[in-house]
Amino acid sequence: MHKIDSIEKDVVIVGAEKFVTLFNEETIQRRVKEMAAQISEDYKGKTPVFIGVLNGAFIFLSDLIKEVKSDCEIDFFKLSSYGDEKISSGNVKLLKELNCDVSGRDIIIVEDIVDSGLSIKFIEELFSRHTPASMKVCALLVKPNSLKYEVKIDYIGFNIPSKFVIGYGLDYAQKFRNLKNIYVLSE
Ligand code: PRP
Repeated sequence: MHKIDSIEKDVVIVGAEKFVTLFNEETIQRRVKEMAAQISEDYKGKTPVFIGVLNGAFIFLSDLIKEVKSDCEIDFFKLSSYGDEKISSGNVKLLKELNCDVSGRDIIIVEDIVDSGLSIKFIEELFSRHTPASMKVCALLVKPNSLKYEVKIDYIGFNIPSKFVIGYGLDYAQKFRNLKNIYVLSE
């Protein structure tokens, strides 16, 4: 059972593991606003559909669209989570389908983090069959050194090292998504 043993502003202790702040709340919010400004500019006069990949993206998506100036819609979908197995087997399944029809729409797929790139690759292949007018990817975090699949990420919040991160939607065994900072496992 993963439980927070102590939390201070910049450090979270979980059992024998120590997580230190990688990006604090102010830094995250500043970057999210910049990304939203860029998206607002790029989609002026359009009504994009933001599609959040559950569960991790829900906080980022929520903060992001509050800063978007154009009209927009949102939807969510969910992939099965296999942990490390998901990466090695390349086996991804859909757990929650979209509610909206993306045909002819400008869609922006929103991820909290792109690691191997498998989820995004799967999503792009799936959505392209529904012939959206355009499709872009927006990820708060990208681990460039972990990418195993060729994916184009149009909006990137931060490139980060290939280390384990938690907070701001990102979990450790489903916990710690509620933390306002993003923390990295300290070695
Ligand atoms: C995480 C994250 C991405 C995916 C990225 O989801 O939210 O969807 O992994 O990894 P990839 O680039 O190697 O595919 P996870 O399956 O852990 O589910 P969660 O969002 O519910 O935490």
